[in-house]
This record gives sequence, structure tokens and C-alpha cells, in this order.
Amino acid sequence: MLAQIKSTAEFIKAETSNFAPEVGIILGTGLGGLVKEIEIKYELPYDKIPNFPVSTVEGHSGRLIFGILGGKNVVAMQGRFHYYEGYDMKQVTFPVRVLKYLDIKRLFVSNASGGVNPNFEIGDLMIINDHINFFPEHPLRGRNDNQLGTRFPDMSDAYNREYIDKAHAIGKELGYKLQEGVYAGVSGPTFETPAEYKFFFIAGSDAVGMSTVPEVIVARHMKIPVFAISIITDLGVPGKIVEVTHEEVQQVAAKAEEKMTKIMTKLIAEL
Ligand code: HPA
Repeated sequence: MLAQIKSTAEFIKAETSNFAPEVGIILGTGLGGLVKEIEIKYELPYDKIPNFPVSTVEGHSGRLIFGILGGKNVVAMQGRFHYYEGYDMKQVTFPVRVLKYLDIKRLFVSNASGGVNPNFEIGDLMIINDHINFFPEHPLRGRNDNQLGTRFPDMSDAYNREYIDKAHAIGKELGYKLQEGVYAGVSGPTFETPAEYKFFFIAGSDAVGMSTVPEVIVARHMKIPVFAISIITDLGVPGKIVEVTHEEVQQVAAKAEEKMTKIMTKLIAEL
């Protein structure tokens, strides 16, 4: 795998005149609007990048964007690879491996999720401070390459505390209400049954979604510090559960994305 990662990174460097991103950003469902704030220098569609899987889901256009955001060089993944699309976990997380070999120093991740904490409201932003991995396949299962990371990676500080504290300070400054909590990662593609939402809450999570956990595990395997934020697009809370559609998830995410974009941009600028 390392040879593939390196050759993909070399391809990208050649295509972008060795543009050196300091921050990697993974944009979730309906959150591609952050791209409008990036002073774009280069764009690479995923289908032009050797060894990259090709994104299929509606609302995910699928390209790497290189440019400047908050005064820093960034590379943004517009569109990610989800396990429910049929990719295996090595494919889902391959781009994060490549970002490491483009030499990013931190990874920012966004997603949409269903809130199971009864204090949450639709449209809330939740800073992720921990996760529970409910995916049926682990991205690090199989032979470990010690050049990428250790066999048994520590997960005690998967979500960087300094970044979380800074994000809260920025939220305060901007007058935004910010939630903080635990994200449960599930395979999807079904949304949860009421009993499942209840289970995830009792199990210790505040929100549940179909991404992020694999990418964060792989980032931490390679010791990349992570900041992640989730938009609560629907509620899995007793008495508040209604039918959910992907379109509604996208609409709520689109409404909340301006706030998310501001927080991300300011945080990138300040780190
Ligand atoms: N469950 C799982 N994934 C999601 C949800 C949800 O309720 N909302 C957005 N992504």
C-alpha cells in the first residue's frame, strides 16, 4: 500500500507544482460551500488521480481542491468515500494516507449526523470530542506497515483538545451556540430505527453518522492531529423522530454550513 500512497502523492505534487498544503479538510454531505471561501490554485477531479476511488453519492462532486484559506495552504476533499457505497475501509481511508504524504500537519473533518442527545436541536453544530466505532470493518485490520504507524495506535486523544477549546472560543466570539459530544460511526445506508437511536444514546453517543470514524482512525494511526465538527440534521430523540430523507439532510447541512465554514476558517487562521 505504501508504494501506492507514495506514487499517488507524487502524481499530485507534479500536477500542483509542489503546492504544499498545511491543512487537510474533508467536507461532508451538503458542506461543500466552504470551497467558495478557498482561493483556489489547483483542482484535481478524483477520477484523474491514480489509485483514488471514484465518488458516487449525490451531493458529493469528488475533487481535491488546493488553495488558500485563512491565510494557510489547504487541500480540501470535496466529497468523501463512504463505506455504504461499497468501498472497503482501505479505499475509504486511502485519501487520508495520501494527504499525509502531501505533508499536511492537521486534518479538519466535517459531516452531517443525527442527534440522539435530547438537548440538541436540528441545525446545531456539534464539535466532536470522541467517537465510538460501530463500523463492521476496521481500517487498520490486516498486516500493519510500521512506516505508516504503530500496530496498536492510542485513541485516548483522537480529537485534539487544543483545537476544540479554540473552536469554542471562536464560537463565543461569533455568538454561535456550539454543542460538543461523541459521534457514533455506523455503516448505513439506512437511517436508524427509533430503537437504534435509543441504543446509540444509551451507549454514550450524542450523534450518529455514516462517516468520519474511519478517516480519523487512519489519521491518528499516522499521528495527524484532528478537528471534527458535525451538523445535526435530524433528531433520533424519542418524541421527535420523524421520517428522514437524504434531501432533508442536505438542506439542513446547507443552512448550517455558513457557520461551520466561519469556524473552520478562523480556526485554520489561528493555528
Ligand atoms: N443517522 C445516520 N447518519 C446520518 C443521520 C442519521 O440520523 N443524519 C445524517 N447522517
